[in-house]
Amino acid sequence: MKKFFTLLLALAMVLSLAACGGDKPADNAGDSAPGNDAAQPAGNGGDASGDDGAGDWKSSLTTINAGKLTVATSPDFAPYEFYAIADDGTATLAGFDMDLAQYIADYLGLELEVVPMDFDGTIMELQQGNVDLGMAGYSPDPKRADSMDFSDVYITGGQSFVCLQANKDKFPSIEEANKSEYQIGAQVGSIQADLAKEHTPDADIIELAKVPDILAELLTGKLDGAFIETMVAESYATSYPDLCVVLDVPYDAKGSVVGVSKGNEALLAGVNEAINAALSDGSFDQFVVEAVEQASGNIVEGLIEE
Ligand code: ARG
Repeated sequence: MKKFFTLLLALAMVLSLAACGGDKPADNAGDSAPGNDAAQPAGNGGDASGDDGAGDWKSSLTTINAGKLTVATSPDFAPYEFYAIADDGTATLAGFDMDLAQYIADYLGLELEVVPMDFDGTIMELQQGNVDLGMAGYSPDPKRADSMDFSDVYITGGQSFVCLQANKDKFPSIEEANKSEYQIGAQVGSIQADLAKEHTPDADIIELAKVPDILAELLTGKLDGAFIETMVAESYATSYPDLCVVLDVPYDAKGSVVGVSKGNEALLAGVNEAINAALSDGSFDQFVVEAVEQASGNIVEGLIEE
């Protein structure tokens, strides 16, 4: 119960930030009632691996490096994945995707190896079979189905349009952002880049490799707005109060999934079983609470040279 309460608190914190002083226009696209975009762990506790086949993956499990689980990530996406900076200055990969990666590796009896890179790189590495998994807050975008297999959804959330607090009145609706005088940002290779092309085709769309670069350009006024995952936008808004999460943006392929190396059925089954275990035993809720809390502290997003 206490854990549940802490989770509620964390979510309430995140939600209250979305208001930009209380006048966030409601999304009128019809599919998202106010509050629906607060990220929610996806668990129904169900065993998605089926009732007769559970555990069958064990005997046929293979990974690219025997005994290891090699996972690509893009640590520019708090609270999903980011670098947490300790008092002595050392940086560690953190975020609920990273905790989930460790949980999955433990569940499968493998040693976890995480490879950080830019977001579009994670999809390419997965497509080329150079890693076993991609864990980077992937949306199950049908356009990606050729590059990876999708796990079950482990968290649901929404999409947002962000701008500076000072400019929020310029964007009462997403249609108002579709003007040729605006520079609109999104991450390369992300569904947000597609959302930008869909909703603001007349604007100058600027695609950048890392989410923090988008943020920097927004804060310095080079970008007028950007499309960012809601939970990530709200996390940034905690650290940068000038930022306003101004609009909900409708998007169909909801939720986040793990990308699994295409055709590795045993791995996919094992990953799904692990995800469903993490959702039903409360671990994943705890990962989210901790990541949201940690993301409000000293973090670096984006790649650091080791
Ligand atoms: N959910 C979006 C997508 O799948 C954005 C994910 C970006 N992830 C990241 N770690 N930067 O395209």
